Amino acid sequence: MSDRDLIPRHTRLLRVDPASPDSDILREAAETILRGGLVAIPTETVYGLAANAWDDSAVKSIFATKKRPSINPLIVHVADEVMVKSVVAAWPPMARELAAKFWPGPLTLVLPKAATLPDAVTAGGSTVAVRWPTHAVALGVIRAAGVPLAAPSANLSGELSPTRADHVLRSLAGRIDLILDAGPTTAGIESTVIDLTHSPPRLLRPGPISVAQIEAVIGPLARLKFPAETLDAVLPSPGMLARHYAPRTRLEIVAAEHLRFRTAELTGQGERVGTLCSTVGSDWDQNVVRLSCDAVEFAARLFEVLHDLDGRGLTVLLVERPPDTDDWLAVSDRLARAATPA
Ligand code: TXA
Ligand code: MG
Repeated sequence: MSDRDLIPRHTRLLRVDPASPDSDILREAAETILRGGLVAIPTETVYGLAANAWDDSAVKSIFATKKRPSINPLIVHVADEVMVKSVVAAWPPMARELAAKFWPGPLTLVLPKAATLPDAVTAGGSTVAVRWPTHAVALGVIRAAGVPLAAPSANLSGELSPTRADHVLRSLAGRIDLILDAGPTTAGIESTVIDLTHSPPRLLRPGPISVAQIEAVIGPLARLKFPAETLDAVLPSPGMLARHYAPRTRLEIVAAEHLRFRTAELTGQGERVGTLCSTVGSDWDQNVVRLSCDAVEFAARLFEVLHDLDGRGLTVLLVERPPDTDDWLAVSDRLARAATPA
């Protein structure tokens, strides 16, 4: 389906309490989904664009709406054990252990797919990615609908993930039916993705649940080297396409000690420069944003700040290079993708 075939939709936005969502609003979202519609819902990581995972044509409309390559499978969101078991064909001990420890939460597990799940969800593949989120609104919508929800991040493919409802609106207004606005998300980056169909299990996407936390439960993970292995002809996780999570403005990763020099150099060349730093001072320019030196706090605000800087009419964004340690893995991964030339 090309963009021209997409029927414009009136996009409604409803505010909802993140902690105790109004049941009428949840029901309305659920009804929209059960009619085959698309609803942007908050999760603890980023906003997701949800459709009924059992509805083949609704799932296909996610791909058209996001302009998502049809080879890139979706995460299925569930809210109880019966739903988990309905979408997978196997539930091995490692899945049970990780689920017991981290669900509900920002962890996605890749497992063999149930034969009954539409192929569109998994992009034709034999495995399915499953997550049981913890956000009360996401859980409320899944339970009110009574079906698992296929939900990628609620942005056009390749763009920064949305951490606030206005990010969704900017990217998808006129293309989806409803946005539930529960304010900013807390983790701020997408879930950790672990592939349990390989031995040893593989880290496909670093995220809020750290490698150390996972390895404490199931032992050593195989790691993919970015970008070399993720640029293989056969991608282990198609969403690992090198350029991803990218602002429209060109982005460079620069060591802390070179930030001021690089800013001056680019400014001298007529560039309008914005900077995101954590350890160095931020007093030299109004377009410098300083975030926490703590990786979790930095991640929580990363996309929000990139969305903000991206909207300022700048020509280059400089981001301070994070430390080369495991606690910064998820941030380094997102920045490396954002910096990959289009
Ligand atoms: O936190 C999150 O995971 C958010 C919220 C909405 O839940 N969702 C999200 O979805 O980030 P998306 O579609 O933007 O990213 C899903 C990632 C992609 O990298 C995709 O390739 C990978 O998960 N994935 C999905 N199904 C897979 C599968 N069967 N095998 C390997 N990778 C898979
Ligand atoms: Mg995404």
